[in-house]
Amino acid sequence: MMRGNILLVAVCLAVLPFSAFAKQQKMAPAPWLEREFAFSLDKIFAHSAVPGMPVGSVIASPSRSDPDYFFHWIRDAALTMDTLVTLRERTKDAGEKARLLNRLFAYADFSRKNQATQTMTGLGEPKFNVDGTAFNGPWGRPQNDGPALRAIVFLRLADQLIAEGRIDLVRREFYNGTNASLIKMDLEYVSHHWQQASFDLWEEVLGDHFYTRMVQRRALLLGARLAARLGDDGAASWYRQQGAAVEKSIEQFWDPHKGYVRVTLGTRNDLNYKTSGLDIAVALGAIHGGMNDGFFDIHDMRVIKTIDRLVGVFRELYTINARGGVPGVAIGRYPEDRYGGTHFDGGNPWVLATLAVAEAYYHNARSRAAIEAGDEFVARVIYHANGDGTLSEQMHRDSGYMCSAENLTWNYGAVLTTTLARNDALVRVLGGSSSR
Ligand code: NOJ
Ligand code: NOJ
Repeated sequence: MMRGNILLVAVCLAVLPFSAFAKQQKMAPAPWLEREFAFSLDKIFAHSAVPGMPVGSVIASPSRSDPDYFFHWIRDAALTMDTLVTLRERTKDAGEKARLLNRLFAYADFSRKNQATQTMTGLGEPKFNVDGTAFNGPWGRPQNDGPALRAIVFLRLADQLIAEGRIDLVRREFYNGTNASLIKMDLEYVSHHWQQASFDLWEEVLGDHFYTRMVQRRALLLGARLAARLGDDGAASWYRQQGAAVEKSIEQFWDPHKGYVRVTLGTRNDLNYKTSGLDIAVALGAIHGGMNDGFFDIHDMRVIKTIDRLVGVFRELYTINARGGVPGVAIGRYPEDRYGGTHFDGGNPWVLATLAVAEAYYHNARSRAAIEAGDEFVARVIYHANGDGTLSEQMHRDSGYMCSAENLTWNYGAVLTTTLARNDALVRVLGGSSSR
């Protein structure tokens, strides 16, 4: 473990010749994604049932130092558990459905425990120790995307269960009109706190964030619908009203002069080097918070323009993007990023950011060429991925080697959603039925 980490840091800092890296000629997305899909699902199951820890506690990464990601992050956990809801919706295999539901119920148990735990910022607390105790060290808190993302997971699951005729189960486990039920606690928090400044999904900037507001809006609108279905009418209209107010506030993030969606407004702290306002968080906000209604979803031209701009900027920014013979563009969080995993020695491209662009392309693809344009970004990740399928958080901007937290759980969730978006695009464009 130790040795692995030292190696990882060394690799992260060194600038290695690209020739040492001439490997993996096989960069075709389809076969890689096919294997990586199964691999990723296994990893998500393993990372949400760590030996000696409660099942349903989801580690962000097994890395315990440089960087220490051995925590249950509310955001990372929700984003990866959400993929299990999606898989459960798509599979016809009853055994698999049960296995997925089981893990989601364990995650629900752990989440209830998180909600009941005394923390420094209540439900806005960004992460917990893996055993469920509060993490009280210094951190960027609160992070108000967390409760919204967690609510979305269980709201989507509740919809599935209701469609299966199991409304009683939903009332018992997730929403019963009292503030103490799992979903309602989060919705109450979101509806009463969305105007409060919080830290962004990158845990650096205190302000009002497009990403956070997008997932808050989705949680509130889905929540209003569930509350109405369950006869909690007062709550339904309150969530609808607050959802509409969040929606109105989101319009302000579009900057018509710049021609892109700004990631943050009203910055309260002094991360003064983050100046452009360009951030892949906008694409992630559209993917995680979009409701397919044209409102800053992944089809919205304002989002597409922002992504185009980001791709252009990152293409110029990273050395590895200028190497010949390597497909696609490696994408980072934001151009001014400095976080390297352990040190602030220059930001790198990230796997989940690069996959987000691929996923955006797939969602918008109306032709084979458009799917192939998305494939370029997957091929880029394949090029830098480890041969054994493991994916670290970052790809070094000069050497291309995987660096920072190894086996990042969120990456595996991104592999699942990207693969599904690609399959859907293939069905849409070529006809026929998806393999998944
Ligand atoms: C760790 C966070 O996870 C990362 O996103 C951030 O850049 C650094 N801390 C600095 O705040
Ligand atoms: C740092 C990232 O910036 C943040 O988004 C994430 O939640 C944590 N790492 C854990 O993966």
